Amino acid sequence: MIKKETSYSLLQHNTFGIDVKTATFVEFDSTEELVAVIKGGIGEPHFVIGAGSNLLFMNDYKGTILHSNITDISVVGETEEQLFVRVGSGVVLDDFIAYSVSQGWQGLENLSAIPGEVGASAVQNVGAYGVEAGDFIVKVEAVELDAACECTFTKEDCSFSYRNSIFKTLQKNRCVITHVTYGLRKASYAEYNLKYGNLRASVEALGEPSAANIREAVISIRAQKLPDTALLGSAGSFFMNPVVDCDKAASLLALYSDMPQYDTAEGKKKLSAAWLIDKCGWKEKRMGCVGVYHCQPLVIVNHGGANGKDIYDYSQLIVDSVKERFGVELVREVNVIE
Ligand code: EPU
Repeated sequence: MIKKETSYSLLQHNTFGIDVKTATFVEFDSTEELVAVIKGGIGEPHFVIGAGSNLLFMNDYKGTILHSNITDISVVGETEEQLFVRVGSGVVLDDFIAYSVSQGWQGLENLSAIPGEVGASAVQNVGAYGVEAGDFIVKVEAVELDAACECTFTKEDCSFSYRNSIFKTLQKNRCVITHVTYGLRKASYAEYNLKYGNLRASVEALGEPSAANIREAVISIRAQKLPDTALLGSAGSFFMNPVVDCDKAASLLALYSDMPQYDTAEGKKKLSAAWLIDKCGWKEKRMGCVGVYHCQPLVIVNHGGANGKDIYDYSQLIVDSVKERFGVELVREVNVIE
Protein backbone atom coordinates (compact mmCIF):
# COMPACT_ATOMS: atom_id res chain seq x y z
CA MET A 1 0.00 0.00 0.00
CA ILE A 2 1.24 3.50 -0.82
CA LYS A 3 1.98 5.47 2.34
CA LYS A 4 1.96 9.25 2.07
CA GLU A 5 2.68 11.57 5.00
CA THR A 6 3.06 15.32 5.23
CA SER A 7 5.33 17.28 7.58
CA TYR A 8 6.96 13.98 8.45
CA SER A 9 9.87 13.60 10.90
CA LEU A 10 13.02 12.05 9.45
CA LEU A 11 14.49 11.27 12.87
CA GLN A 12 14.01 7.52 12.34
CA HIS A 13 15.29 7.79 8.75
CA ASN A 14 18.83 9.08 9.30
CA THR A 15 21.48 7.34 11.37
CA PHE A 16 23.04 10.68 12.42
CA GLY A 17 19.90 11.16 14.52
CA ILE A 18 19.11 14.61 13.14
CA ASP A 19 15.64 15.89 13.90
CA VAL A 20 14.41 17.39 10.62
CA LYS A 21 11.13 17.08 8.75
CA THR A 22 10.24 16.56 5.12
CA ALA A 23 7.23 18.31 3.55
CA THR A 24 6.12 14.98 2.02
CA PHE A 25 7.21 11.39 2.59
CA VAL A 26 6.07 8.61 0.25
CA GLU A 27 6.67 4.89 0.64
CA PHE A 28 5.70 2.20 -1.89
CA ASP A 29 5.58 -1.62 -1.73
CA SER A 30 5.97 -2.55 -5.41
CA THR A 31 7.15 -1.32 -8.81
CA GLU A 32 3.50 -0.80 -9.83
CA GLU A 33 2.89 1.42 -6.80
CA LEU A 34 6.03 3.43 -7.58
CA VAL A 35 4.86 3.96 -11.18
CA ALA A 36 1.49 5.16 -9.84
CA VAL A 37 3.21 7.56 -7.42
CA ILE A 38 5.32 9.05 -10.23
CA LYS A 39 2.34 9.33 -12.59
CA GLY A 40 0.48 11.16 -9.83
CA GLY A 41 3.29 13.75 -9.80
CA ILE A 42 5.91 14.09 -7.09
CA GLY A 43 6.99 17.69 -7.73
CA GLU A 44 10.34 19.32 -7.06
CA PRO A 45 12.55 18.89 -5.23
CA HIS A 46 12.50 15.16 -4.63
CA PHE A 47 14.97 12.72 -3.26
CA VAL A 48 15.15 8.95 -2.74
CA ILE A 49 16.39 7.59 0.57
CA GLY A 50 17.33 4.12 1.74
CA ALA A 51 18.02 3.55 5.42
CA GLY A 52 19.47 7.07 5.75
CA SER A 53 22.82 5.64 6.82
CA ASN A 54 24.86 7.85 4.51
CA LEU A 55 22.98 11.14 4.69
CA LEU A 56 23.44 14.47 6.39
CA PHE A 57 20.29 16.62 6.42
CA MET A 58 21.16 20.31 6.74
CA ASN A 59 17.59 21.63 6.99
CA ASP A 60 13.96 20.59 6.85
CA TYR A 61 13.34 19.18 3.36
CA LYS A 62 10.91 21.24 1.31
CA GLY A 63 9.92 18.60 -1.24
CA THR A 64 9.14 14.88 -1.43
CA ILE A 65 11.25 12.08 -0.05
CA LEU A 66 10.63 8.66 -1.58
CA HIS A 67 11.43 5.41 0.20
CA SER A 68 11.18 1.90 -1.25
CA ASN A 69 9.49 -0.76 0.82
CA ILE A 70 9.89 -3.36 -1.95
CA THR A 71 11.08 -6.45 -0.10
CA ASP A 72 10.60 -9.51 -2.35
CA ILE A 73 13.54 -11.90 -2.83
CA SER A 74 13.61 -14.56 -5.57
CA VAL A 75 16.12 -16.79 -7.31
CA VAL A 76 15.81 -15.89 -10.99
CA GLY A 77 18.46 -18.06 -12.59
CA GLU A 78 21.43 -20.32 -12.08
CA THR A 79 24.48 -21.81 -13.73
CA GLU A 80 26.68 -24.67 -12.57
CA GLU A 81 28.59 -22.24 -10.32
CA GLN A 82 26.29 -19.31 -9.64
CA LEU A 83 22.83 -18.30 -8.49
CA PHE A 84 21.16 -15.09 -9.56
CA VAL A 85 19.05 -13.56 -6.82
CA ARG A 86 16.70 -10.62 -7.43
CA VAL A 87 16.17 -8.55 -4.32
CA GLY A 88 13.78 -5.65 -3.59
CA SER A 89 15.52 -2.32 -3.06
CA GLY A 90 13.93 -1.90 0.38
CA VAL A 91 15.43 -5.09 1.85
CA VAL A 92 17.96 -4.36 4.60
CA LEU A 93 21.29 -5.33 3.04
CA ASP A 94 22.53 -7.14 6.12
CA ASP A 95 19.29 -9.16 6.38
CA PHE A 96 19.87 -10.31 2.81
CA ILE A 97 23.51 -11.16 3.55
CA ALA A 98 22.46 -13.17 6.63
CA TYR A 99 19.89 -15.01 4.51
CA SER A 100 22.43 -15.65 1.71
CA VAL A 101 24.95 -17.06 4.16
CA SER A 102 22.27 -19.31 5.70
CA GLN A 103 21.44 -20.59 2.19
CA GLY A 104 25.12 -21.29 1.42
CA TRP A 105 25.28 -18.51 -1.19
CA GLN A 106 28.71 -16.90 -1.22
CA GLY A 107 29.89 -13.42 -2.19
CA LEU A 108 28.50 -10.67 0.00
CA GLU A 109 29.69 -11.94 3.42
CA ASN A 110 32.57 -9.40 3.60
CA LEU A 111 29.88 -6.67 3.51
CA SER A 112 28.20 -8.00 6.67
CA ALA A 113 26.84 -5.40 9.10
CA ILE A 114 27.12 -2.49 6.68
CA PRO A 115 24.08 -0.37 7.52
CA GLY A 116 21.71 0.38 4.65
CA GLU A 117 19.36 -1.14 2.11
CA VAL A 118 19.81 -3.09 -1.11
CA GLY A 119 18.96 -0.14 -3.41
CA ALA A 120 21.66 2.00 -1.84
CA SER A 121 24.19 -0.84 -2.13
CA ALA A 122 24.07 -0.21 -5.89
CA VAL A 123 23.98 3.61 -5.70
CA GLN A 124 26.90 3.83 -3.32
CA ASN A 125 28.72 0.66 -4.44
CA VAL A 126 29.22 -0.03 -0.74
CA GLY A 127 32.43 -1.78 0.13
CA ALA A 128 34.33 -3.31 3.00
CA TYR A 129 37.15 -5.77 3.64
CA GLY A 130 38.22 -6.09 0.01
CA VAL A 131 34.76 -6.51 -1.56
CA GLU A 132 32.39 -4.04 -3.21
CA ALA A 133 28.70 -4.63 -3.88
CA GLY A 134 29.30 -3.91 -7.58
CA ASP A 135 31.54 -7.00 -7.78
CA PHE A 136 28.38 -9.11 -7.43
CA ILE A 137 25.65 -6.94 -8.95
CA VAL A 138 24.60 -8.17 -12.39
CA LYS A 139 21.50 -6.05 -12.99
CA VAL A 140 19.65 -3.09 -11.51
CA GLU A 141 15.97 -2.40 -12.24
CA ALA A 142 14.55 1.08 -11.79
CA VAL A 143 11.73 3.41 -12.78
CA GLU A 144 12.52 6.66 -14.55
CA LEU A 145 11.17 9.69 -12.74
CA ASP A 146 10.34 11.82 -15.79
CA ALA A 147 8.67 9.14 -17.96
CA ALA A 148 7.45 6.77 -15.19
CA CYS A 149 8.72 3.84 -17.28
CA GLU A 150 10.72 0.84 -16.12
CA CYS A 151 14.36 0.55 -17.15
CA THR A 152 17.23 -1.83 -16.49
CA PHE A 153 20.94 -1.32 -16.09
CA THR A 154 23.52 -4.04 -16.72
CA LYS A 155 26.61 -4.19 -14.53
CA GLU A 156 28.52 -2.29 -17.24
CA ASP A 157 25.82 0.40 -17.44
CA CYS A 158 26.21 0.94 -13.68
CA SER A 159 29.87 2.14 -14.07
CA PHE A 160 30.82 0.99 -10.60
CA SER A 161 33.96 2.45 -9.08
CA TYR A 162 35.13 3.22 -5.53
CA ARG A 163 31.96 4.33 -3.64
CA ASN A 164 30.50 5.50 -6.95
CA SER A 165 28.11 4.47 -9.73
CA ILE A 166 26.02 5.96 -12.51
CA PHE A 167 23.28 6.49 -9.88
CA LYS A 168 25.48 9.13 -8.22
CA THR A 169 26.43 10.77 -11.54
CA LEU A 170 24.43 10.69 -14.81
CA GLN A 171 21.37 9.06 -13.25
CA LYS A 172 21.43 11.04 -10.00
CA ASN A 173 17.86 11.80 -8.92
CA ARG A 174 16.60 10.59 -12.34
CA CYS A 175 15.41 7.11 -11.45
CA VAL A 176 14.31 5.07 -8.46
CA ILE A 177 15.81 1.61 -8.00
CA THR A 178 13.26 -1.16 -7.44
CA HIS A 179 15.35 -4.34 -7.59
CA VAL A 180 18.99 -5.40 -7.60
CA THR A 181 20.06 -8.80 -8.95
CA TYR A 182 23.20 -10.26 -7.41
CA GLY A 183 25.18 -13.13 -8.93
CA LEU A 184 26.32 -15.23 -5.96
CA ARG A 185 28.46 -18.34 -5.93
CA LYS A 186 27.22 -21.75 -4.82
CA ALA A 187 29.10 -23.03 -1.76
CA SER A 188 31.05 -25.65 -3.71
CA TYR A 189 32.34 -22.93 -6.05
CA ALA A 190 33.06 -20.38 -3.32
CA GLU A 191 35.89 -17.87 -3.85
CA TYR A 192 36.54 -16.28 -0.48
CA ASN A 193 38.20 -12.90 -0.26
CA LEU A 194 40.51 -12.77 2.78
CA LYS A 195 43.08 -10.28 1.54
CA TYR A 196 42.10 -7.22 3.60
CA GLY A 197 44.18 -6.43 6.72
CA ASN A 198 44.01 -9.14 9.35
CA LEU A 199 40.75 -10.67 8.07
CA ARG A 200 42.36 -14.04 7.26
CA ALA A 201 43.75 -14.37 10.80
CA SER A 202 40.36 -13.43 12.32
CA VAL A 203 38.57 -15.99 10.15
CA GLU A 204 41.10 -18.76 10.80
CA ALA A 205 40.69 -18.18 14.54
CA LEU A 206 37.07 -19.29 14.01
CA GLY A 207 37.90 -22.31 11.82
CA GLU A 208 37.91 -23.10 8.10
CA PRO A 209 37.25 -20.18 5.72
CA SER A 210 33.51 -20.18 4.99
CA ALA A 211 30.91 -17.51 4.29
CA ALA A 212 29.55 -17.98 7.84
CA ASN A 213 32.98 -17.62 9.47
CA ILE A 214 33.84 -14.57 7.33
CA ARG A 215 30.52 -13.01 8.29
CA GLU A 216 31.19 -13.62 11.98
CA ALA A 217 34.76 -12.24 11.76
CA VAL A 218 33.68 -9.12 9.84
CA ILE A 219 30.88 -8.41 12.31
CA SER A 220 33.33 -8.64 15.18
CA ILE A 221 36.00 -6.45 13.48
CA ARG A 222 33.37 -3.81 12.65
CA ALA A 223 32.03 -3.83 16.22
CA GLN A 224 35.53 -3.04 17.49
CA LYS A 225 36.06 -0.14 15.05
CA LEU A 226 32.71 1.39 14.24
CA PRO A 227 29.99 2.83 16.49
CA ASP A 228 26.56 1.23 16.79
CA THR A 229 24.32 3.88 15.22
CA ALA A 230 21.49 2.90 17.56
CA LEU A 231 23.64 4.21 20.41
CA LEU A 232 25.74 6.93 18.77
CA GLY A 233 24.65 8.86 15.68
CA SER A 234 26.98 8.53 12.68
CA ALA A 235 26.97 7.72 8.98
CA GLY A 236 29.97 5.41 8.80
CA SER A 237 32.99 6.83 6.99
CA PHE A 238 32.30 10.53 6.52
CA PHE A 239 34.98 10.95 3.82
CA MET A 240 36.33 8.78 1.04
CA ASN A 241 39.93 7.64 1.12
CA PRO A 242 41.73 10.12 -1.15
CA VAL A 243 43.46 8.92 -4.30
CA VAL A 244 46.57 10.85 -5.37
CA ASP A 245 49.10 10.48 -8.18
CA CYS A 246 52.37 8.67 -7.52
CA ASP A 247 54.49 11.85 -7.41
CA LYS A 248 52.32 13.35 -4.70
CA ALA A 249 52.35 10.03 -2.80
CA ALA A 250 56.16 9.84 -3.00
CA SER A 251 56.60 13.40 -1.73
CA LEU A 252 54.31 12.66 1.22
CA LEU A 253 56.15 9.41 1.99
CA ALA A 254 59.45 11.32 2.07
CA LEU A 255 57.99 13.50 4.84
CA TYR A 256 55.93 10.83 6.66
CA SER A 257 57.59 7.44 6.32
CA ASP A 258 54.79 5.68 8.27
CA MET A 259 51.98 6.97 6.01
CA PRO A 260 49.80 4.06 4.74
CA GLN A 261 49.53 4.03 0.94
CA TYR A 262 47.80 1.44 -1.25
CA ASP A 263 48.11 0.85 -5.02
CA THR A 264 44.95 1.40 -7.06
CA ALA A 265 43.99 -0.40 -10.27
CA GLU A 266 44.53 2.90 -12.16
CA GLY A 267 48.20 3.13 -11.15
CA LYS A 268 47.61 5.76 -8.45
CA LYS A 269 47.89 5.63 -4.66
CA LYS A 270 45.05 5.53 -2.18
CA LEU A 271 45.78 7.21 1.17
CA SER A 272 44.09 6.46 4.48
CA ALA A 273 41.74 9.31 5.34
CA ALA A 274 41.58 7.96 8.91
CA TRP A 275 45.35 8.26 9.24
CA LEU A 276 45.43 11.82 7.84
CA ILE A 277 42.62 12.91 10.20
CA ASP A 278 44.27 11.16 13.14
CA LYS A 279 47.62 12.92 12.43
CA CYS A 280 45.82 16.27 12.53
CA GLY A 281 44.80 15.50 16.12
CA TRP A 282 41.03 15.26 15.66
CA LYS A 283 40.53 12.50 18.24
CA GLU A 284 41.15 15.18 20.87
CA LYS A 285 38.97 17.85 19.27
CA ARG A 286 35.32 17.61 20.17
CA MET A 287 33.13 20.62 19.42
CA GLY A 288 29.91 20.71 21.36
CA CYS A 289 28.06 17.51 20.48
CA VAL A 290 30.25 16.65 17.47
CA GLY A 291 33.48 14.68 17.41
CA VAL A 292 35.25 11.83 15.66
CA TYR A 293 34.88 8.25 16.89
CA HIS A 294 37.72 7.31 19.24
CA CYS A 295 38.49 4.03 17.39
CA GLN A 296 38.08 5.32 13.83
CA PRO A 297 38.47 9.07 13.20
CA LEU A 298 37.02 8.73 9.69
CA VAL A 299 33.65 8.44 11.41
CA ILE A 300 32.09 11.68 12.66
CA VAL A 301 29.67 11.14 15.54
CA ASN A 302 26.76 13.06 17.01
CA HIS A 303 26.98 12.76 20.79
CA GLY A 304 23.39 13.99 20.96
CA GLY A 305 21.61 17.15 19.88
CA ALA A 306 23.85 18.19 16.97
CA ASN A 307 22.19 19.56 13.86
CA GLY A 308 23.31 19.13 10.26
CA LYS A 309 25.17 22.44 10.20
CA ASP A 310 27.14 21.60 13.37
CA ILE A 311 28.31 18.36 11.75
CA TYR A 312 29.01 19.96 8.37
CA ASP A 313 31.02 22.83 9.93
CA TYR A 314 33.08 20.34 11.97
CA SER A 315 33.72 18.27 8.83
CA GLN A 316 34.87 21.40 6.98
CA LEU A 317 37.44 22.11 9.71
CA ILE A 318 38.75 18.55 9.18
CA VAL A 319 38.95 19.14 5.40
CA ASP A 320 40.82 22.43 5.95
CA SER A 321 43.31 20.95 8.42
CA VAL A 322 44.15 17.96 6.20
CA LYS A 323 44.52 20.26 3.18
CA GLU A 324 46.81 22.60 5.09
CA ARG A 325 49.05 19.91 6.54
CA PHE A 326 49.19 17.37 3.67
CA GLY A 327 47.94 19.28 0.61
CA VAL A 328 45.28 16.57 0.14
CA GLU A 329 41.61 17.32 -0.47
CA LEU A 330 39.21 15.08 1.45
CA VAL A 331 35.92 14.47 -0.34
CA ARG A 332 32.79 13.69 1.65
CA GLU A 333 31.36 10.22 1.18
CA VAL A 334 28.24 11.23 3.07
CA ASN A 335 25.50 12.75 0.93
CA VAL A 336 24.79 16.28 2.18
CA ILE A 337 21.13 17.26 1.64
CA GLU A 338 20.53 21.02 1.60
N1 EPU B 1 43.69 4.45 11.15
C1 EPU B 1 44.32 5.41 11.90
N2 EPU B 1 43.80 5.73 13.12
C2 EPU B 1 42.70 5.10 13.61
C3 EPU B 1 42.05 4.13 12.84
C4 EPU B 1 42.55 3.81 11.58
O1 EPU B 1 45.33 5.97 11.49
O2 EPU B 1 42.30 5.44 14.73
C5 EPU B 1 44.27 4.11 9.83
C6 EPU B 1 45.20 2.93 9.99
O3 EPU B 1 46.32 3.16 9.15
C7 EPU B 1 44.37 1.76 9.45
C8 EPU B 1 43.65 2.47 8.33
O4 EPU B 1 43.28 3.71 8.92
O5 EPU B 1 45.16 0.71 9.00
C9 EPU B 1 42.48 1.73 7.77
O6 EPU B 1 41.41 1.60 8.70
P1 EPU B 1 40.14 0.69 8.34
O7 EPU B 1 40.57 -0.72 8.13
O8 EPU B 1 39.06 0.96 9.32
O9 EPU B 1 39.71 1.21 6.88
P2 EPU B 1 39.35 2.63 6.28
O10 EPU B 1 40.12 2.78 5.01
O11 EPU B 1 39.51 3.72 7.29
C10 EPU B 1 37.46 1.72 4.74
C11 EPU B 1 36.03 2.03 4.41
C12 EPU B 1 35.09 1.48 5.47
C13 EPU B 1 35.31 -0.02 5.56
C14 EPU B 1 36.78 -0.31 5.87
C15 EPU B 1 37.08 -1.78 5.81
C16 EPU B 1 36.11 4.08 3.13
C17 EPU B 1 35.80 5.55 3.08
N3 EPU B 1 35.85 3.46 4.28
O12 EPU B 1 37.79 2.43 5.94
O13 EPU B 1 33.77 1.73 5.02
O14 EPU B 1 34.47 -0.60 6.54
O15 EPU B 1 37.63 0.32 4.88
O16 EPU B 1 37.08 -2.20 4.50
O17 EPU B 1 36.53 3.52 2.11
C18 EPU B 1 31.97 3.28 5.11
O18 EPU B 1 32.12 3.43 3.89
O19 EPU B 1 31.07 3.90 5.74
C19 EPU B 1 32.86 2.40 5.85
C20 EPU B 1 32.80 2.23 7.16
